[in-house]
Amino acid sequence: MEYDLVVEGRVVLPGSVKDAQVGIRDGRISAVKRQGLRAERTIRAPDSCLVFPGFIDSHVHLREPGWEYKEDIRSGTLAAAHGGVTTVFDMPNNPTPTTSPVALDRKRRLAESKAKVEVRFFAGVTDANLAQLRLMAPSAVGFKAYLARSTGDLVLSNGGLAKAIPEVGATGKPFSLHCEDQAIIDSRASSRSSYADLRPPEAEVASVREVVGMVRKDGGVRANICHVSTAEALRLVEGSGGSGHRVHCEAALHHLFFTRKDLDGNPLLRTNPPLRGESDRVALLEGLVGGSVNSLVTDHAPHTREEKLSEGLAGVPGLDDYGHVVAWLVMRVGVDPLVVSRACSSDPASFFGLPDRGEVAVGRRGDLTVLDLKSPQRVAEGELQTKCGWSPYEGFEFPGGARWTVSGGRVVLDDGQLEV
Ligand code: DOR
Ligand code: ZN
Ligand code: ZN
Repeated sequence: MEYDLVVEGRVVLPGSVKDAQVGIRDGRISAVKRQGLRAERTIRAPDSCLVFPGFIDSHVHLREPGWEYKEDIRSGTLAAAHGGVTTVFDMPNNPTPTTSPVALDRKRRLAESKAKVEVRFFAGVTDANLAQLRLMAPSAVGFKAYLARSTGDLVLSNGGLAKAIPEVGATGKPFSLHCEDQAIIDSRASSRSSYADLRPPEAEVASVREVVGMVRKDGGVRANICHVSTAEALRLVEGSGGSGHRVHCEAALHHLFFTRKDLDGNPLLRTNPPLRGESDRVALLEGLVGGSVNSLVTDHAPHTREEKLSEGLAGVPGLDDYGHVVAWLVMRVGVDPLVVSRACSSDPASFFGLPDRGEVAVGRRGDLTVLDLKSPQRVAEGELQTKCGWSPYEGFEFPGGARWTVSGGRVVLDDGQLEV
């Protein structure tokens, strides 16, 4: 047979959506044709489906090593396959943080035997490891710094940030930044009001302003603002171009779907940064459609239900539901599938320097996500792959979700069934 696998249906190609067959051989896309491809196996995606380039989630906390009771590389990547995600980028805030070459190599080795989809790793940046960044660069997809304390307490001071920007710039790797201002958060510490007020919009806005100013002055680093959550921070990103490149930014699915009304009274929905108001949510959706929100991420951050309820830890899982939320964006919000393929695949591939994926095109990896947009489904605990065992989307009905996930030519989700 000419091909190992053919996937046929309505295919989201670069710039257009067409009826096509995608032929995969030896893990790569080797033909995209109207018809006539023959393969060992053909997946015929029904009319209710769209075939996207495999989704790339550039912000995930897989928790291994150290917090395997919350999630491990296997369970987290199974959740990814379940949600239609073929590549995840893992964050460095483990109990032993990924801030040294040794810790980074350890994670890479763990993933080699355990990962069900592709995993790449961020290297963490702190005041203490600036001299090691160049050593970690070849093994890292990018660098990550937290400008305020969050899970793992990995922080970079403002002074450290000024030094880190040229250091990261010199490596050529992107720099993802969790932007919240610690001093503003500390000034709210005594407030007894909602979690949303403990980490207020002003903390994000001040931090994004600081980062945008420093990046513009330096000019040599490609910065990504993580999980932008406020309209005002998005405006700062939009205006950050100046004479050079504007900073890049991502939005998290939960900030597009929920608001602080959902958070008040529900500690399961605590995240850093917190859920915001309806006008912020709408601004993020508009930014997605207009292109100023460059990419979509889950910020999959599993904690057990008990930890959430008794200790108030911040973070929600999201990988299992990536396909659900994208189906909702397309069918209920009216987001164009071409916008989805940009934000969920081609943009993270090009920004983070993975030219072998991100589009359905000859020569790319055989990574495909087939979403069924017309098979309503209610999220239920029993189907989740994440080890934490719960989802913020439980009980919500979505218009559809991921039906086939193909990673490097392997069918890891097959007509809704995971191939473990
Ligand atoms: O909500 C969050 N959870 N925000 C972060 O910055 C970290 C993450 C986690 O790792 O739990
Ligand atoms: Zn963060
Ligand atoms: Zn995160």
